[in-house]
Amino acid sequence: MRLMASFFRAYPGRTSIMLIALLLSGIAEGIGLSALLPLLNIAVGADASSALTGVAMPQQSDFERNVLEMFSSVGIAPTLGNMLWIIVLGVALKSVFLLVAQRQVGYTAAQVATDLRLEMLRAILLSKWEYFLHQPIGKLTNALATEAQRSSSSFVNGATAITFLIQALIYGGIAFALSWRASLVAIVAGTLVIGLSHFLVRITRRAGKRETRLLTSLMSNLTDTLQSVKPLKAMSREHLADQVLAHDANQLNKALRRQVLSGALLDSAQELMFTGFICLGVYAAIGKYQMDLPMVMVLVVALGRAFSFFGKVQKQYQKLAQGESAYWSLKDSIAAANDAEEALDGGAEPAFKRSIRFDQVNFDYDQHPVFRDLSLDIKAGALTTLVGPSGSGKTTIIDLTIALLRPQGGTIWLDDTPLNEVDIKHWRKLIGYVPQDTVLLHDTIAHNITLGDPTLSDQDTERALRAAGAWDFVSNLAMGTQTMVGERGGKLSGGQRQRIVIARALINKPRLLILDEATSALDPESEAAVRQTMESLKGQLTILAISHNRGMVQAADYVYQMEGGSARLLNEQDQSALTQ
Ligand SMILES: Nc1ncnc2c1ncn2[C@@H]1O[C@H](COP(=O)(O)OP(=O)(O)OP(=O)(O)O)[C@@H](O)[C@H]1O
Ligand SMILES: [Mg+2]
Repeated sequence: MRLMASFFRAYPGRTSIMLIALLLSGIAEGIGLSALLPLLNIAVGADASSALTGVAMPQQSDFERNVLEMFSSVGIAPTLGNMLWIIVLGVALKSVFLLVAQRQVGYTAAQVATDLRLEMLRAILLSKWEYFLHQPIGKLTNALATEAQRSSSSFVNGATAITFLIQALIYGGIAFALSWRASLVAIVAGTLVIGLSHFLVRITRRAGKRETRLLTSLMSNLTDTLQSVKPLKAMSREHLADQVLAHDANQLNKALRRQVLSGALLDSAQELMFTGFICLGVYAAIGKYQMDLPMVMVLVVALGRAFSFFGKVQKQYQKLAQGESAYWSLKDSIAAANDAEEALDGGAEPAFKRSIRFDQVNFDYDQHPVFRDLSLDIKAGALTTLVGPSGSGKTTIIDLTIALLRPQGGTIWLDDTPLNEVDIKHWRKLIGYVPQDTVLLHDTIAHNITLGDPTLSDQDTERALRAAGAWDFVSNLAMGTQTMVGERGGKLSGGQRQRIVIARALINKPRLLILDEATSALDPESEAAVRQTMESLKGQLTILAISHNRGMVQAADYVYQMEGGSARLLNEQDQSALTQ
C-alpha cells in the first residue's frame, strides 16, 4: 500500500473527495441493509419463521430493536412499504456517491498517467547530454507508454480495493451488530482464506516485476533493431534480430501466463472456500444453534457480501501488485533524470563579439581521454573549419562549444566570460546547428524547418531553403514545403535531408552556425551552392564547420587540424596542400 500512500501525497484533494464519497456510499448501503431484517420479519412473519425452523420465534433481536428505534425517532413506522422505501433510497444514495467516487478515480487515473509522462519527458529533456546518451531510447518509450499506463491502472486497482474494503467493513459491521459470535467465527474463517491465498498475490507481484524488466529490455532491443533494419535486410541477417526479440517476447509471455494463472486460481480458490464456510455456518446456525430464519438470512447476506468484498479487495490488491513495479521503475527513472539535470543558468548574458576561445582544455569520456591542453580560437564573423581523422575529437569540440559537454580542465571563453558563467539557454538560442547524422521528423518539410515555431512565416521558410540551396528541389515537389518527408525523412535523399537540416539551422538567423560534416552527402553542385551560401554569410555570422570537403577548406578563413588530442592552426601553405 506504499503505492497508494504515494498517490495520496501527490493528489491530496482528489483522493480525499474520493474517500469521503466512498465512505458516504458505504453508509448509505448500510442504512439500506439495516432495513432488511425488519422487512424480512414483516414479510415472513413470526409464524412462518417458527414453522420453518420448528422452534418458537424469539422476540426481536437487539439489532432489530435498535434499528426500529432509530427509524421511529425520525418518524418512520415499521411498515413493509417504509422498509422497502429505505432499501431503495439506500441503494440510490449509494449509487450516487459511488458515481462521484468513481468519477474521481477515473479522472485521477488519467491525471496520474499524464503527470508521470510529462514529468518523465521534462526530466529527460532537461538532463545532461552525457546522461541522455546512455539512455536506451526503447527504455524511455516504454516508460512513457507502458509504465505510465500500468501505474495508472495500479492506482485504479488500489482505489477499487479501498471501495471494496469500505463496503466489506460496512457489511461486516452489520453482521457484527446482528451476532458478534457468528461474525467472530466468520472473521477467523475469512482471515484463513485470505492468508491461504496470499501466496498467489506474491507470485503475481514477482511476475509483475519480471514483466516490467522484460518490457524495458524488449522495447530497447526493438527500437535498436528498427533503427538498423535496412542493413539487416540487405545482408539477410533479420533472423539475428528475431532471435533476440523472440527470446524477450517469450519470457514476457511466461510472466504474463503466470499472472493469468495466479489471478484465475485466486478467483476459484476464494469462491470455493468462502462458499464452504458459509454453508457450514448456515448448517451450524439453523441446525445446531436454532437461530431464527430472518436473522440467519440477513446474516448470510451480510457475511456473504462481506466475504465477497474482502475477496474482491484481495483480487484488486493482486492486480495492483502486478503493475506496481512499473510505477516504481518509472519513478526511479524520473529521479535519476532529475539528478542528472543540466545546469543552464550561469547568469551572464552571452555577447559573442570577438571569439570563442578554448584555453588548455582537457576532456575525457569516462576515463577515455580525448583532449589534453587543447587551445583554439573561433573568431567571430569568420569561417573556421576543423579537419582531422575520424575519432580525433571534432564533434566533441562542437559539443563543448554548445556546452552539451563540460571540460574537466581548462576554460572555454566566450569573449571575456567563461562559458560556465554564461546563461546557456540564451547562448544556444544564438546557435544554428547541423548535426552529423540528419534525422528528420515524420512531418512536412516546412515543419521540419520551423519545428512548429508559430513566429516563423512561409517567407522565412523560403528564405532559409534558398540559403541552404534547397529551394530548387523543394519548389519542384508537387506539395512544395507541405510535402511529408516520411519516417525519419526516408522519402528524401541523404543530400536533400542535409539541406533541409541546414535550412532549419539558418531560419532563426543564428549568430554562430555549426556544421558537423554538413556537406558530406551533397553532390558537387549542391555542395558548391552551400559553400557559396557560406561565403555570402561570412561576416554576417560566425561559421564553425567540420568538413573534409575541399570546398569548405578553401572557403575557410582558419583551418584547424586535429591530431593527438590537440588542434594545430594551419598556415596558408598547409591549407593549400590540403586542397590539392
Ligand atoms: N559518448 C561517448 N562516450 C565515450 N566515448 C566517446 C563518446 N563519444 C565519442 N567518444 C570517443 O571520443 C573520441 C572523439 O569522438 P568524436 O565524435 O569527437 O570524433 P570525431 O572527430 O567527430 O570523429 P568523426 O570524424 O568520425 O565524426 C572518439 O575516440 C570516440 O570514440
Ligand atoms: Mg564527428
